Amino acid sequence: MTQNPTIDTMLAHRSIRKFKDESIPESDIKAAMIAGQAAATSSAVQPYCIIQITDSSKRQQIADLAGPQQKVHDCGAFFVICADLRKHMLITKRAGTEYTTGLEAFLVGAVDASLFAQNFNLALESLGYGTCYIGGIRNDLPQLNDILNLPEGVLPLYGLCAGVPDESPSHRPRLAPEAMLFTNEYPSDEETLAYIDQYDTLYKQYLTDRGAPPATWSESIAKKYSYAARVGLAAFFKSKGANLD
Ligand SMILES: Cc1cc2nc3c(=O)[nH]c(=O)nc-3n(C[C@H](O)[C@H](O)[C@H](O)COP(=O)(O)O)c2cc1C
Repeated sequence: MTQNPTIDTMLAHRSIRKFKDESIPESDIKAAMIAGQAAATSSAVQPYCIIQITDSSKRQQIADLAGPQQKVHDCGAFFVICADLRKHMLITKRAGTEYTTGLEAFLVGAVDASLFAQNFNLALESLGYGTCYIGGIRNDLPQLNDILNLPEGVLPLYGLCAGVPDESPSHRPRLAPEAMLFTNEYPSDEETLAYIDQYDTLYKQYLTDRGAPPATWSESIAKKYSYAARVGLAAFFKSKGANLD
């Protein structure tokens, strides 16, 4: 397979959930920030922001609402990644025009924030830090909103723990690239299910090796998508000025 140092860094990724009690120097965060911002962004609209939480009590409150997930409090640095429509709202207001959007603006916010976040994350990993995204913050966005005192237009998407790793977990296997990269058209359901069967075996073995309760990927996906999680999200995002229509 073709290799280079960038691909090596990407392949070294695994989520880190245990961190040493060491903070990340500001110069490293700044470098990761600038690398993150170098990501492509739709028409240069840059609809995102990232909030670093340094206050220990706020960190603990977020750790609690996210699970609890104590690593949110204990990691070297914790960030909340947000779609940020606020800047655009301020610009249109100042220009005397009405801020008018549909679902597109929300989607661009979520997409571009994630392109930024993964560049930011990768830069931190390239500096030797471990990271773990935290979707758990969406357990209670109204509470998070109050903790962070967010204005209209700022929509928290997920968190990111970063710090010096204090564990070395194995790599979680992925679906075969052939199950994701298609040529000209989407494959038949039979082909798709055959890739899934192949992966199920690999996935169950990975969990067994980790000492986790063994389950196939299919079993965990069937369970995960048997109910709607975090049902209040649309109402929250609308209350913060997002148009989801
Ligand atoms: C947006 C997002 C949210 C996530 N939220 C959590 C979380 O709340 N807690 C956690 O321990 N891991 C979380 N993860 C990590 C995933 O569980 C992990 O990336 C996945 O199992 C693959 O494992 P790997 O990152 O070690 O390769 C999240 C990942 C993403 C991309």
